[in-house]
Amino acid sequence: MNVLVTGGAGYIGSHTCVELLEAGHTPIVVDNLCNSSEVSLRRVREITGKEVVFIRGDVRDEALLDQVMEQYRPACAIHFAGLKAVGESVEKPLAYYDNNLRSTLSLCRAMARAGVKRIIFSSSATVYSGDNEMPLGEDARTGGCTNPYGWTKYMCEQILRDAAKADPEWSVVLLRYFNPVGAHPSGLIGEAPNGIPNNLMPYISQTAIGRLPELRVFGNDYPTRDGTGVRDYIHVVDLAKGHVAAIRHLMEHTGEAVFNLGTGQGYSVLEMVEAFQRVNQVSVPYRIAPRRAGDLAVCYADPSKSARELGWKAELGLEDMCRDAWNWQKKNPNGYEA
Ligand code: NAD
Ligand code: UD1
Repeated sequence: MNVLVTGGAGYIGSHTCVELLEAGHTPIVVDNLCNSSEVSLRRVREITGKEVVFIRGDVRDEALLDQVMEQYRPACAIHFAGLKAVGESVEKPLAYYDNNLRSTLSLCRAMARAGVKRIIFSSSATVYSGDNEMPLGEDARTGGCTNPYGWTKYMCEQILRDAAKADPEWSVVLLRYFNPVGAHPSGLIGEAPNGIPNNLMPYISQTAIGRLPELRVFGNDYPTRDGTGVRDYIHVVDLAKGHVAAIRHLMEHTGEAVFNLGTGQGYSVLEMVEAFQRVNQVSVPYRIAPRRAGDLAVCYADPSKSARELGWKAELGLEDMCRDAWNWQKKNPNGYEA
């Protein structure tokens, strides 16, 4: 089955292409490479020995999407394309609303014209409001986002939900990712952030390899086991497999469905640092710094709906996440750049 994969050259997209190919699907990637490299797709071919179609272009370009639909006739789409840096979204809100909302609208319109009304959307745990109890079920309160990036996810969810309500032929699956980390065990594809990373795991890896002097632990006075923030880290290969499971659901149902993709297990910042050092036998210098604005103390998923309805559950643990993140970092100290 041909699957249109927007943003397929990126971190989660490239890992999902591998799992799609392993499951017998053909990814048709549309990506403008604004935050990625075509090398990732060459590596996907190397891992799987199979072909990925790549069209370089912007998802906001509807004429291009019409051509892609006509030529490849995908059965459904996975919409990864979007900007994702929280801090940057505060500085450049209009660029974030423009890219993330307009790409979703263009894609849906082009899909509707082609009669392809099945879409999986990359949402985030960030759409849950900060006043929920843990673990977060899919029916927990949403909204009250603390930055424009979060609002774009919230708004795209609403756009897709309304589209499914208005036209019973649409099938929409909203996947709320918790904290994706790690890399493919081959070390050929992984996360290649531009500049200094914002997220914990790439920051730890780059500190371990000596590119960054030390990790700042943002706050040790949270009401948690050791005072540092707790998150639901999920191995990116498990996350990618969640998309293959979601495709089965997408093809068999209409209407809208929301699923958490998380493990249900939270780890603190210091637990992550300790595990990374122990598993990889490396040192990660750190110091305690003030809390980061907008951070929650604790955030983890209730993944039971995904287990029940998608037949999917995360299988890889913290040690796999740390080992594979380090393997990727060591083999690709400069990301995809030679
Ligand atoms: P990424 O930046 O590695 O991948 C996004 C891809 O989309 C990139 O290859 C980029 O070049 C492409 N892109 C962006 N705008 C585009 C446009 N207008 N047209 C064509 N291509 C475009 O990010 P990722 O970590 O792989 O995230 C994928 C999706 O998952 C994003 O929508 C992100 O918001 C969402 N998400 C990510 C995380 C995370 O922690 N990584 C968590 C929750 C949700
Ligand atoms: C962040 C974003 C969220 C986004 C998610 C995935 C914020 C407020 N939230 O989530 O919207 O969906 O990334 O991309 O930015 N930490 C440190 N030192 C660091 C980096 C992080 O101590 O240098 C801590 C944080 O305080 C947090 C944990 O590590 O407790 C995880 O941080 P991070 O990887 O940035 O993810 P989130 O904050 O959960």
